[in-house]
Order: sequence, then structure tokens, then C-alpha cells
Amino acid sequence: MFPAERPRRLRRTPALRRLVAETTLTPANFVAPLFVAEGLREPRPIPTLPGHVQHTIESLRDEVAALARVGVTSVILFGVPEQKDEIGSGAWDPNGVAQVALRALRDDFGDDVVVMADLCLDEYTSHGHCGVVRRDGTVDNDATLELYARTAIAQAEAGAQVVAPSGMMDGQVGAIRAALDEASRDDVTILAYAAKYASVFYGPFRDAVGVEIVGGGDRKSYQQDFANRREALREARADVEQGADLVMVKPAMSYLDVVADLRRELTVPLCAYHVSGEYAMIKAAAAQGWLDASAAAVEQLTAVRRAGADFVLTYFARELAEEWSR
Ligand code: PBG
Repeated sequence: MFPAERPRRLRRTPALRRLVAETTLTPANFVAPLFVAEGLREPRPIPTLPGHVQHTIESLRDEVAALARVGVTSVILFGVPEQKDEIGSGAWDPNGVAQVALRALRDDFGDDVVVMADLCLDEYTSHGHCGVVRRDGTVDNDATLELYARTAIAQAEAGAQVVAPSGMMDGQVGAIRAALDEASRDDVTILAYAAKYASVFYGPFRDAVGVEIVGGGDRKSYQQDFANRREALREARADVEQGADLVMVKPAMSYLDVVADLRRELTVPLCAYHVSGEYAMIKAAAAQGWLDASAAAVEQLTAVRRAGADFVLTYFARELAEEWSR
């Protein structure tokens, strides 16, 4: 007996495989996360994210130009301030490092690059939490919303086309949308970190931005519990109702079920964040000679697209796009 089904016929040659590929991965699908630090004279390498640095304003401009040359025309910016305080006031200071960087990028690139700003307080607070901390150590949701609104306006005024609230406070998208509209900035897009899980995979990022949570604390009282799947849908629906234009799942690889759920249930564009720990694991294994980093990255990032994400935030953006352009 001969088998009737012959899927292997379509796998015979690279050209055939390209023809029938259900999923593609291109530089247009990438958003590059970038760090800019205040008061630096030279870019400072980030040991936990090999190949990445804390940028000066000048090196940031060069980096974005290099990304755009290979087709990566979306970036998300994280500011690393020199001074921190209890409420994270550097986040909305018009001369704060993120705002200075946003202005520089819009000056250089205008509308040719989508410039996103991560909107959170943790890089700017002395205690490392994403919001206002009460005397008893708990995070005050509604007091934090007011500060997110101020930050959104400062980022919009500095030139961010997209603001991306990542603090997981309830009602953050609605509060930011209202503040932006009130300031006549209805043109500014909101990318909601809708389903953001309390994850060990953010470890290298916290080193990259110099964030340490006071008293060895964690974010489990505001970020999602990784035991939960339906809750992500509840979070994402609330964000869309409050005005989110784009929705994110974070991290990526351990949450592909969540990506698939949101793809099925929502019509807004969807993305996932392949986070620092996911990048660092691949890099660490590759450094041992145990696997090929870019092949591993392509396989994982394609899986994120296959699960239903339209685009992906990834520290591999530049290296893959450069490899493909050679
Ligand atoms: C919070 C924020 C974090 C990341 C992006 N935005 C860290 C956290 O929630 O602790 C993590 C990104 C990564 O790990 O690559 N501002």
C-alpha cells in the first residue's frame, strides 16, 4: 500500500518550501528595544544582554540609523536616569533622558521610523516599583494613574508616536487615553502591555536599566500570575475597551497559548515581547557553542508569528536584519 497523503512532496526544495510557508518573518515585523542613559560619555555595554548597550544620545541616533538601513523601522525606547526619587518624577520631566532622546530621534527620522516610548515608572523610582508605594509598602493603583497620564503627555510632546504603558495598573490605558485626548493628542497611539506576566525572564533587563526592587520584592501584586490563561483575555479586552490601539503579550515563548487566544478573540493588531531573558538564554547557549544563535532566534520568532502575533519586540532585530541583508 502507498500512502495517499504525501506532504513531503512540498518539502523537496528550498523554493517549494518558501512557496508554501504559512508564516513569514521580516525586519518589518520587528521592534527594536533600545536603552538610553543620562550622563554617559560613551555607550556602556550591558553584560546581561551581549551585543546591547546603554546608549548616549549620539550613539542612539547612530543605532536607529543602522536599524533603518536594514529595514527595522520601529523602536521602543527605555530611559535610564541619573537620579531616582520616590515618585519617579524623571519619567515626565520634559528634560528627562527619555524625552531628550525622543526629540532627537524625531528630529533625525521624522515619520520614517515609528518611535515608541515605554511608559512606566520603575526605571525612575528609588524603590524600583512601577507605581507609587504607600507607607505599608503596597502599590497605590489610582495615585499611579495620575503620574502615568503626566508621563504620557511628556512623551507625546517630546515626539513619541506610540506610548506603551507597561506598569499593569488597572485602568492605565483609559487614564492615558483621556489625558492625551484632553491635551489634543488624539494622534498618539497606545500599545498596551495587556497581558504582562510576573516573569523571571525580565532579569537581564533589570540589570540593563539598573532597577532593583526594594527589599528583594517582586511585582506579583500587579503583574499577572503565570498560572493564568483566561485572565489575559480579561486584561486585553479591558485595554481595548479603554482605547488600546495595539495589544502585547509578554514574555513570548512561555505564553504562545495566550498569543493564540488573543489572536482569536481580538481584532486589534497584536504583538509579543521576546524579552531579555529569552534573548540571554539563546546567547548564553551559543557562547558555549551549544546552538546556533540566529537559527534559534528565527525559529522562536517565527513561532511567535505563527501563534498569531503581527509583530515582535526583540533584541535580535538588528542582528537578524543585518544577516538577511548580506
Ligand atoms: C517595566 C518593564 C520591564 C520590561 C519592560 N518594561 C521590566 C519589569 O516589568 O520588571 C522587561 C523587558 C525585558 O525583560 O526585556 N518598565
